[in-house]
Amino acid sequence: MRQRLLSEGAKELTYEIRGIVRKAQQLQALGKTIYWENIGDPIQKHYQVPAWMKEIITDLLKEDATYGYCDSKGVLETRKFLAELNNRRSGAQITADDILFFNGLGDAISKLYQYLVPTSRVIGPSPSYSTHSSAEASHANHHPITYNLDPDNNWYPDLEDLYLKVKYNPNIVGILIINPDNPTGVVYPLEILQRMVEIAREFDLFLVADEIYLNITYNNAKAYALADVIGEVPGISLKGISKELPWPGARCGWMEYYNRESSADFQRFCATLDNAKMIEVCSTKLPQLAIPRIMGDPRYTDYRKEFNEKIGRRSQIIAHILEEVPALKFNKTYGAFYNTIIFQDEILNKHQSLEIEDERVQQLLQRWFMEEPDMAPDKRFVYYMLAAKGVCVVPISSFCSELQGFRVTLLENDENILKETFMRIKEAVIEYTGIRVTT
Ligand SMILES: Cc1ncc(COP(=O)(O)O)c(C=O)c1O
Repeated sequence: MRQRLLSEGAKELTYEIRGIVRKAQQLQALGKTIYWENIGDPIQKHYQVPAWMKEIITDLLKEDATYGYCDSKGVLETRKFLAELNNRRSGAQITADDILFFNGLGDAISKLYQYLVPTSRVIGPSPSYSTHSSAEASHANHHPITYNLDPDNNWYPDLEDLYLKVKYNPNIVGILIINPDNPTGVVYPLEILQRMVEIAREFDLFLVADEIYLNITYNNAKAYALADVIGEVPGISLKGISKELPWPGARCGWMEYYNRESSADFQRFCATLDNAKMIEVCSTKLPQLAIPRIMGDPRYTDYRKEFNEKIGRRSQIIAHILEEVPALKFNKTYGAFYNTIIFQDEILNKHQSLEIEDERVQQLLQRWFMEEPDMAPDKRFVYYMLAAKGVCVVPISSFCSELQGFRVTLLENDENILKETFMRIKEAVIEYTGIRVTT
């Protein structure tokens, strides 16, 4: 080509959550059964959308207005409904004008970092949901900047680490919080969120809170929203329906701007995001129309309660199976529907393996290893487990982390399959590390 086509940032775009699917499909082609634990899609895990929700959506499809464009920021009635929902919390107050719809929250995340000056950085958690870390790093043409979540302290953020990184890196303009968190399942206590707001205030930063799991808590946990704690600091909350309804195929998420007027720079940033959406005309309309009808339905609260209780029950089944495995650091989860399970330090090495009888599978695995000679130790384990036990999880090193472990979901609706999957994981860990459970 006459000039180079790709920016430096292009190499930051990786998404192992889907990347590993290609490997699993190669095994499926050889007739292996796969236990899918890679993606947070309840629908893929035998979840059935309730009939009353389907009726609401079917009724919308009968109206001609559903088929047209909508306001570029999103359907006004829906934005009013959501603003009112936020304002009931009595924290930061917003109007319909502070809400901007996107084609899925993933779309919102890509746009969020795109218009920042490349040298202006948003520090995010490690491990981190890779859509954030990849999009932020690709805007900056540089690796992500992160603060640690600590597996030895319930996965709470290491606030000292955050404070020092912010203090000594003047390029940091924002802090990303994912609460409840993907991939760890942690729900941040109030004091931690308050301290993060204080840090943002001290260094004149804005906050971004990915709150797509805000209403997905269990085991007696409660999630505080950014709006509850932000005070007068500028910030953006990211929300969506992919997980909560759940309707991931709808591709529908939104931003809520808090305290836009508190900084001229932040105000221009929000206006730019609005303009970017205007250029595209608007986002997917059908799910926007459905939001007030579904979330405003009297059945919704009980429905959500039951959904969360089921996830809580699964979290306990998983804890029961994996908690006592000595090779692992296991933390209970309280929100979202993932768990990140870490190997004890220095346990993984290149000589470990799992028995695989089928020669074709053995050869496939060796090919994967040859394609990636410097594979991280946790990814090596994950590939072995996929080949030997058919369980497809995601290595935690692909979530922007130096820790070694893997992420599972808490979504399998069929209890027998759930137990079978986690027993297979337990066996894989014990056989691979050679460290047995002592009872
Ligand atoms: C923390 C977080 N944010 C955003 C998304 C993306 O959501 P959407 O399906 O609306 O693009 C996900 C999806 O897994 C997520 O876990």
